[in-house]
Amino acid sequence: MDKREALATVLDELKRLKKEGESDVYLSDESYALLGQLREGSHFLPPDRKALEMGTASPRERMTLDMVMEDASSKQRARATPAPANTSGVPETRPELPAPPVVDLPHGDKASQWEWLRDQVLNNPICVSHVKPGKRVVFGVGSVEAEVFFCGEAPGADEEVQGEPFVGPAGQLLTKIIAAMGFQRSDVYIGNIMNWRPDTGTGFGNRPPTAEEMAFCLPFLKAQIAIVQPKVIVALGATAVRGLQGLDRSPRMGDLRGRWQDYEGTPLMITYHPSYLLRNQTKAKKREVWEDMLLVMEKLSMPISEKQRGYFQ
Ligand code: URA
Repeated sequence: MDKREALATVLDELKRLKKEGESDVYLSDESYALLGQLREGSHFLPPDRKALEMGTASPRERMTLDMVMEDASSKQRARATPAPANTSGVPETRPELPAPPVVDLPHGDKASQWEWLRDQVLNNPICVSHVKPGKRVVFGVGSVEAEVFFCGEAPGADEEVQGEPFVGPAGQLLTKIIAAMGFQRSDVYIGNIMNWRPDTGTGFGNRPPTAEEMAFCLPFLKAQIAIVQPKVIVALGATAVRGLQGLDRSPRMGDLRGRWQDYEGTPLMITYHPSYLLRNQTKAKKREVWEDMLLVMEKLSMPISEKQRGYFQ
């Protein structure tokens, strides 16, 4: 992929974040380097990355989405060669998806139903057709007896290689959150709206799934919830909320998080996606997510130590 395409992908992600109500952005090394290459002759100078990571960047140094996007867009416009026509990140040649599958769980115990469903998903021809050679369809992991069901968006680059949800950087952060709550990763259940990594057409970056893609995979997620019957579901990020709440647009996470919602009779806690936390490493955001997890722990009548109550205060 050339730099223009990479820039278009980064720009699309920034647009998405802005739509979700973000104003500041923390960038991955890859994106930072990409934007850094646009610096020459620009009014926009990315601040010192280390300062951003340490959270010591002054408000003036912090990049606002408007600044980054304005700069990136104008650079894109100024290029001699035209930007690619399709910058949505959704490849134009996507095969049409058939109607969503109907999942009829067989009779049996939770473990055998889960094995059956896993087999259905991993061998589903549509799911399989969406993964590149050497990459894998990703099904949920964890305990079928879990009290908490964490739901994310879609596998990323690491997940489609390992065939397991949340194993990349965002997954490692989720695992830390789970441990801070007093669970082991194997005590809870972790699934995604999608069973394949949405194709950006460039192999670079991630994009949120389309409504059609979500509709196709949702019956598989719902069947996992039906098997596990958790006491609480945690929706990680806007796509999970869209899928679980049947919304046709991305909600503003700041308005929804921290309040109990309902998924077909099961309490649903909405919180930020761990990858959002990786981009926004402020104590305040970490505290917000942690407060959401404290609510989950209270709902489950889990013991909460003073130390746990005070994290990120
Ligand atoms: N992000 C998700 O939403 N799910 C994963 O499995 C990994 C990253």
